[in-house]
Amino acid sequence: MKFFIDTAHTEDIRKAYELGVICGVTTNPSLIAKEGLVFEEVIQEITTIVDGPISAEVISLEAPKMVEEAEKLAAIHKNIVIKLPMTEEGLKATKILTSRGIKTNVTLIFSATQALLAARAGATYVSPFIGRLDDIGFDGMGLIQDIVEIFEIHGIQTEIIAASVRHPIHVLEAAKAGAHIATVPYSVILQMIKHPLTASGIERFLADWATLQNK
Ligand code: E4P
Repeated sequence: MKFFIDTAHTEDIRKAYELGVICGVTTNPSLIAKEGLVFEEVIQEITTIVDGPISAEVISLEAPKMVEEAEKLAAIHKNIVIKLPMTEEGLKATKILTSRGIKTNVTLIFSATQALLAARAGATYVSPFIGRLDDIGFDGMGLIQDIVEIFEIHGIQTEIIAASVRHPIHVLEAAKAGAHIATVPYSVILQMIKHPLTASGIERFLADWATLQNK
């Protein structure tokens, strides 16, 4: 399973990329708004940090407008992936963009049949939201398992991005389920790095080494 970072905070993107663990970025309108910056400018800056797929989401709700927005975003950089909502219009736009060679990420996926339709419309990626399903008492990870199984049975090439990841256990379970990618906030990457036994292990090694120097 590969990692994308799920943020529009360019400093966090830079720090995560330097760690060598992420190979792409996902953003959404809420994440961009949180940074209070100009959408196209943030996306442009991200392309200078990460050499990999960068998802930028359209705001329009009708397919022709989505396509128009998507073409402008795709012109920013070859790595831009267009994020589209899982709606009838989003599917139409996915089909058109795919036929024009523009990569797509169908987002706000909450059922396996939505994922299957998005894949059939030509989506490069689908983004099932684990955390938001868990939040309302549904089985977010069960959704990932179902999509993985269905895509495997039918030889579907669309990649599954486990999204709305809240903690390292989501990452662990998504990896075991066979998601191709997990898109994670920087805070989750930091949680995954840390382990109390690693910290105490380093402390003990250094303390033992220091006793040697005093001999
Ligand atoms: C996915 O690409 C979305 O940006 C994201 O994972 C949404 O997560 P949230 O439920 O934490 O907002």
